[in-house]
Amino acid sequence: MDPSLVEHLVSSAVSPERRSRTERLRRTDDRARSAYAELLLNHALRRALRLDKPALGRTELGAPFVANAPGAHVSLSHSGSMVACVLSSLPVGLDVQEDTLPDLAELIPGACSPAEAARLASLDPPERLDLFLKIWTGKESAAKCLGVGLGLDFTAMELEFGHTGLTATARENAALTPRTLYLDFLEPGSGYTACVARAEPARPPELRSVAWRDLIPPELGD
Ligand SMILES: CC(C)(COP(=O)(O)OP(=O)(O)OC[C@H]1O[C@@H](n2cnc3c(N)ncnc32)[C@H](O)[C@@H]1OP(=O)(O)O)[C@@H](O)C(=O)NCCC(=O)NCCS
Repeated sequence: MDPSLVEHLVSSAVSPERRSRTERLRRTDDRARSAYAELLLNHALRRALRLDKPALGRTELGAPFVANAPGAHVSLSHSGSMVACVLSSLPVGLDVQEDTLPDLAELIPGACSPAEAARLASLDPPERLDLFLKIWTGKESAAKCLGVGLGLDFTAMELEFGHTGLTATARENAALTPRTLYLDFLEPGSGYTACVARAEPARPPELRSVAWRDLIPPELGD
C-alpha cells in the first residue's frame, strides 16, 4: 500500500461519510481497506446496475445501503489484503476472513454454540481451523444480512451441519426471532474463507475479482 495514494483516495475518491470514518482509522492498511471497499462497491454498482452516482447510506447500526438503487441489497467485508462486496436482490450479508486468526481457544466461547464447540474440540487443528472459519464467516455474514451488527449473540446461533441452512435463535434482547438464513461458502482465494448469507434460498453468487489498481480513479493513477 502506497501511503500517499491511500491518503489521496481517502481525501478525494470516497464519499464524505466514508472519508470521515476512514480518517479516524490509524493504520494505513485499515484506511486502504475502507477506501477500496467503497471504490469496489461503486465499481460493482456501475457494472451491474449502470449506476454512476450511487447515493450510499448507512443504517444507524452500520449496514450500508444504496438509496438510489431500490431493490438492490449490498454488503461489504475486508480482511488481510482482500476487500469484498456483494450485490443481491435479496437482503444479503457477506464476510471474508483471512485464515490467520488468533488463538481459537479464546474465540470459540464467544462465537460458537456448545454443540459447535464440542464438535470443534473433536477435530485435529487443520480441520478445526477450517470449520471454525466457516462458523465465524457464516455467523458474521448472517449478522450483516440481518443488519443487527453487535446485537447478535453468536452462541445462540448454530450452523446446521450437512445443510446450507443456519438457524438463528433469539435470546434476551437479541433483535431476532428464530429463522433460517441460507449460506453459500465461496473460495475467494488461497488463505481466505468467505460466506454470503441470504434470507431465502438463491443461486450461489457469481464470483468476480478486480485488481486494486483497476479501482483507482484515472486522475489518481500513475
Ligand atoms: C459489524 C460486524 C458485522 C463487522 O464485521 P467485521 O468482521 O468486524 O468486519 P468486516 O470487514 O467483515 O465488515 C465490516 C463491514 O460490515 C458492514 N457493517 C457494519 N455494521 C453492519 C451492520 N449492522 N449490518 C450489516 N453490515 C454492517 C460495513 O459495511 C463494514 O464495512 P465498512 O465500514 O467499510 O462499510 C461485526 O463486527 C459484528 O458486529 N458481528 C456480530 C456480533 C459479534 O461480533 N459477536 C461477537 C462474537 S465473539
